[in-house]
Parts: sequence; structure tokens; C-alpha cells
Amino acid sequence: MKAYRVGEKLRRFYHYYPGTVAVIGVRDPRHGANFMPAVWNAGLSFEPPLFGVAVSPKRHTYAALEAGEPFSVSFFPYRQAELVARLGSVSGREVNKVEAFGLKVHWGEALRVPLLEGAFAAYELEPYDRFPTGDHTLFVGRVRAVWEDEAAFDPDGVPTPDRADALLYYGRFLYGRPAPETRRLKFR
Ligand SMILES: Cc1cc2nc3c(=O)[nH]c(=O)nc-3n(C[C@H](O)[C@H](O)[C@H](O)COP(=O)(O)O)c2cc1C
Repeated sequence: MKAYRVGEKLRRFYHYYPGTVAVIGVRDPRHGANFMPAVWNAGLSFEPPLFGVAVSPKRHTYAALEAGEPFSVSFFPYRQAELVARLGSVSGREVNKVEAFGLKVHWGEALRVPLLEGAFAAYELEPYDRFPTGDHTLFVGRVRAVWEDEAAFDPDGVPTPDRADALLYYGRFLYGRPAPETRRLKFR
């Protein structure tokens, strides 16, 4: 192990990866819908159910979130890595991703949010709060509807590797999948 001190910027910031990717979906006035992957995502509260994504103002998606639009987040299996990588390689500012990638979009049950086919789960999120944090803003949404492919979850609702095969992102364009081994460790 070596240690180094850090100033303004960290050149490599992947020590806590891999992470699952949440693909954010928002309505788009020009293209109907726009989607971007966000590895900086987290569950934040059970009651009410809150989920957050950290989005840079550089992203086209940011404008919709900043305007207080509802949004979706979808979780994809490993076999959809290419789609996710493509969604993160161009901006809705220049490209109509729905058209360019032949995306199949469907619309929310509770909110007017676009969702993408091919995910094993998705949330429809109502804007709840936002926190500017450094060069990103944490947008927190309240879960108003859940979509899930039942085959991707075990009886406890856990997306096990054999069922969900959740896409993992390691940083620097590197994608992976969970190892098949799992252990249930419960001490009390
Ligand atoms: C796997 C992956 C994860 C990403 N995670 C984030 C993230 O958490 N926050 C963010 O602002 N950008 C993230 N990005 C970058 C945006 O997804 C990317 O710039 C995208 O093209 C923005 O699309 P938009 O301009 O249409 O919104 C990620 C990209 C990839 C490929």
C-alpha cells in the first residue's frame, strides 16, 4: 500500500467500484425521452422510499432534473452492457438516443416518466429533494412505482447473481457481472 495526499482533484477515483448502474430516464421536449447511466446512485431511505442519483450539470439530463421533472431509474442485466455503454457515450443534446439506438420506450404507471425495455427492475421517481455537492447535484426521488421482473429476484426480493445478473461498472469503460457465489451470513 502507498499513500498520497490529495489536492483539488483526484486523478483516479474508482477505489469503491464496482457499482451497479442506474439508467436515468427523463422526458425530453425534442426526442420524447432521454436516458443516461449513473453509477453514482444510492438508496437513501426506506420510509418514505427514497433513491438518489448524482448528476453533473454537464449532462443534458441535468436540465430536466433541475427543472423538477419526475424521472425513472432502471437496472439492467450484464447482457445489456452495450446498450448502457452507448447511452453513456453520447448526449441527448446532440443525439436523439431513442432513434439512434432504436430504443423501446414505455411510460410510467404512476408518473409521466419514460422507461426502457430490457431492465430487470425500475423505479418511477417523484422529485423529493436536491443537494448540490461539489461538481455534481444529488437528485433525490421518492419511489412512486416499482417495476420488477419477478424472475430476477429470490423469494426475499433479492436480485441474486443467478437470477438478476446485475450489470456492474468498474470505471474507465469496464463492465462486469457479479460472481455466482453468495453466502447468507446472519449472526443474530
Ligand atoms: C457506466 C456509466 C456511469 C456513469 N455515471 C454517471 C454519474 O453517476 N453521474 C453523471 O453525471 N454522469 C455519469 N456518466 C456519464 C453520463 O452518463 C454521460 O455523460 C451521458 O452521455 C450523459 O447523457 P446526457 O447528456 O444525454 O444526459 C456515466 C457514464 C457511464 C458510461
